[in-house]
This record gives sequence, C-alpha cells and structure tokens, in this order.
Amino acid sequence: MIVMGIESSCDETGVGIVRRHSDGSVELLADEVASSVDQHARFGGVVPEIASRAHLEAIVPAMRRALATAGISKPDALAVTIGPGLAGALLVGVAAAKAYAAAWDVPFYALNHLGGHVAVDTLEHGPMPPAVALLVSGGHTHLLQVTDLGSPITELGSTVDDAAGEAFDKVARLLGLGYPGGPALDAAAASGDAAAIAFPRGMTGPRDARYDFSFSGLKTAVARYVEAAQRQGVTADQLPISDIAASFQEAVADVLTMKAVRAATDIGVDTIVLGGGATANSRIRSLAEERCAGAGLTLRVPKPRLCTDNGVMIAALGAHVIAAGAQPAALTVATDPGLPV
Ligand code: KG4
Ligand code: ZN
Repeated sequence: MIVMGIESSCDETGVGIVRRHSDGSVELLADEVASSVDQHARFGGVVPEIASRAHLEAIVPAMRRALATAGISKPDALAVTIGPGLAGALLVGVAAAKAYAAAWDVPFYALNHLGGHVAVDTLEHGPMPPAVALLVSGGHTHLLQVTDLGSPITELGSTVDDAAGEAFDKVARLLGLGYPGGPALDAAAASGDAAAIAFPRGMTGPRDARYDFSFSGLKTAVARYVEAAQRQGVTADQLPISDIAASFQEAVADVLTMKAVRAATDIGVDTIVLGGGATANSRIRSLAEERCAGAGLTLRVPKPRLCTDNGVMIAALGAHVIAAGAQPAALTVATDPGLPV
C-alpha cells in the first residue's frame, strides 16, 4: 500500500509518499517540502494570503517531484490535511488532493494535522505504543493522549493563549534576533545563564489546569525586563541577550516537559513522543530527555526535518488509519480551519 500525503495548513507545502508493509512498518519513499517562510520574514509572522499563493505555485511541482523520487506514476491512496490551519492555505492542498484522487481514481482520506505530527515518528521508531504526545510549534501547543494511531487521539490540554513557538518568535523579535526567531534564540541561549533571570512559569499553580499552558505572561515578563533595563539606561547592545534568551527558554522547556511527564505519569503510559517545529529546540529536547530518564519513561523524538510541517506525516497517518479500516472521505468534504484533535 503506497500513500501520498499532502500538507498545506500553514507556510509549508508538503508532499510525502510512504509505503506501509504488512508487518505495520512504514517506509519513506519521498519527502518534498517547499516553504514560503522567507516571504513572511519581513512581516514577522505568516501572512495567510501570501501562504495560499505560494501553496498554489508549489503544490503541483511538489507532487510531480515526489512521484518521480518514489518512482511511481500514482499512489494507492491520497491523504490530505483538512485542518486545523489557515483556511485559504488548507484549501489549496485539499483541492489538489481531490482533483488528483478523482483523476487517478484512488481513495482520498481527510486527516487532522495534529495526528500527523504524532504518526510521523513511526517512520523512525516503529509502531506507536500508548503514549502522551507533546506537540509544540509556531501554531500549536498540545498535550495529547494516543492509544494507537488508528483510533481517535484525545486532547489533554493546550495553550490558552500563545503557542510556544509563537512565544519564541515574539521574544526573539523583541531581542532583535530576526524571524523565525526560535532557532536564533536557541543559538543565543547557548552562551547564556538559564538561572540568570527568574521568569514566570505560566499555569503551574495548584489551581491551574493540570495540562494546559500559557506563554503570554512569560512573553510580557521578558518585555518588562527589557523595558526596566532600558529605563535604567542600559542600551540595546548592553542588554544581556544570552542570559535573557537562556532564562526564557528554560521557563518554556520547564513547563512543557514538566506537564508532559506529569500527564504520562497520571495516565500510566511509559512513552512520551515529541512533535512540531519547536521541538528542534535544544533545551526542550535535553530537558525532556533528562526528565523522561528520571521518571523511567521512553522518549521518542523524530528527527528535526520530520518535526516541522511536511507531507510525510500526513502520508504516515494515512497509512495507519487505512490499515485500521478507516473509510475514505467524500470528494465534497470541506476544510476545517478550527478542527479539534
Ligand atoms: O512546525 P513548524 O515548522 O511550523 C508550525 O508552526 O506549524 O514550527 C515552526 C516554529 C516556529 O515558531 C519556530 O520559531 C520554532 O518552531 N522553532 C524553534 C526552533 N526551531 C524552530 N523554537 C525554538 N527553538 C528552536 N531551535
Ligand atoms: Zn504543524
């Protein structure tokens, strides 16, 4: 069974092709990603209209390249992200998937982007045991309970305001580190002292929801810290950028990993799987490793290329749901920008 996955929920046009073997393993045959990230940089965030236009230009060439790389003329099935994501961006991938499904006469599956971030890990690490998934990117921050990839995923918690990656981007911008700021902030933090500034850990009080997150207070605390320093006459180039970055990053990593381990312990699963572009962050990774080891949990982290948005994750999820007996979607199915887990 060969499945093509199409992903266009944000600023990455992804087309992936996988083969599912009878033993349940999933093999990567093609992974094409075209990103419009450079076109959004001067706006400091993804501009939906620009993203949609870029998808439109990139989608068919990406599909052709993926078919050529996989050495096939058409897949056995098509899977596409129908949500959550940007309405106009989703529409491009879904329209392409419908058109090709009709032209090729292959079944078409409408999938949830978040499930894809979890499923992609099976390419490298094999079948997914019951697990807690922590998804962190520019658009989402979710704690999920996964039983198996053919069954619905349950949401345990999510951010009540900014996504973690969004907080990285906003703080990086405040510190003059560019866009997307996550990688630059990570690099700046490397030479900083993570204990230099005690930034707040949102939603960690005894009366706060156990599995939800909040990062807007943290972002404000960084802004206040910078403003206070400037009021005292500290110039922009005298700001302790590395210490601020390291202390901010520590606060984010601390809360994310603490709540993921808490959820796994509460539920009684022994695996945590990470996904989403911000799990490329060095401190989120190292603290997750440390805390999983301490709690006797197995940590599964896809390689960075597969953590960011791509088509392979949708192809992998497609392969798992098809194997579990899912029914194809009708060609009339609509995109759902606010699709819950
Ligand atoms: O999954 P992704 O490619 O796109 C979506 O947002 O769906 O994630 C991109 C996000 C951006 O916010 C980016 O700043 C963040 O992931 N990111 C990082 C790092 N690398 C990427 N955040 C912190 N540290 C990093 N090393
Ligand atoms: Zn994503």
